[in-house]
Amino acid sequence: MIRVGVSGAAGRMGGTVCAAVEAAEGMELAAKADPALGVALDSILGEVDVVVDFTTPETALENATACLRAGVHVVLGTTGFDLDALRDAAEAAEANCFVAPNFAIGAVLLMQASQAIARHMPECEIIELHHDRKLDAPSGTAKRTAELIGAVGGNVHEPIHSVRLPGLVAHQEVIFGGEGQTLSLRHDSIDRVSFMPGVVLAVRRIAELPDRFTVGLEKLL
Ligand SMILES: NC(=O)c1ccc[n+]([C@@H]2O[C@H](COP(=O)([O-])OP(=O)(O)OC[C@H]3O[C@@H](n4cnc5c(N)ncnc54)[C@H](O)[C@@H]3O)[C@@H](O)[C@H]2O)c1
Repeated sequence: MIRVGVSGAAGRMGGTVCAAVEAAEGMELAAKADPALGVALDSILGEVDVVVDFTTPETALENATACLRAGVHVVLGTTGFDLDALRDAAEAAEANCFVAPNFAIGAVLLMQASQAIARHMPECEIIELHHDRKLDAPSGTAKRTAELIGAVGGNVHEPIHSVRLPGLVAHQEVIFGGEGQTLSLRHDSIDRVSFMPGVVLAVRRIAELPDRFTVGLEKLL
């Protein structure tokens, strides 16, 4: 049994993760941490093998570093903070850190398809659309998509467009433009359950990852 702690357990994603862990085979929801529940992350680290963190850009680095220092693997979904500092902390740690800017398989496939298209139609723009309580912009998914397109020679025009409206969950469009034609890719997460198979997979696999620091759900597929 993998003992899982959920950091940010009172939040929109954290609550959905708690339910997914409880429903998954081979793991148990061992502890929940969230200031809103009056439980500090540090106080649960002795009871868990893996922490899943969906919190805020301000606290994610500190939370992940605390897990790694305690020898607890961390699956991080929080976006909007600098990953380089975390990479350094993870490489010196005795536990693994897995980060995915997007845990939905459809979003990962959109990123891979974008790379394939950009090799032939390099000019493109990204529009990301999220609910109006999202704290960071552009989204971690959009920044990662731009990085991956750039890595194969694509040219993502700036700025990345961010739409924030009630009613939205997490959506992204990539529009490629060529001579006399455009090609559009779109992914819609219409419910937070879309992220759960990816989160559960990361919890199952994190202990056996070959590197201390891994970014991207595609590395687990
Ligand atoms: N990677 C993905 O696939 C993915 C998908 C959706 C959302 N996200 C990201 O997940 C994060 C959370 O999103 P949300 O909509 O659930 O936010 P939310 O505001 O609903 O929840 C955040 C929770 O974190 C708690 N929190 C704050 N400081 C904390 C601390 N120090 N320790 C523990 N908990 C703390 C808050 O009290 C709150 O309950 C955001 O960064 C968002 O961009 C990632």
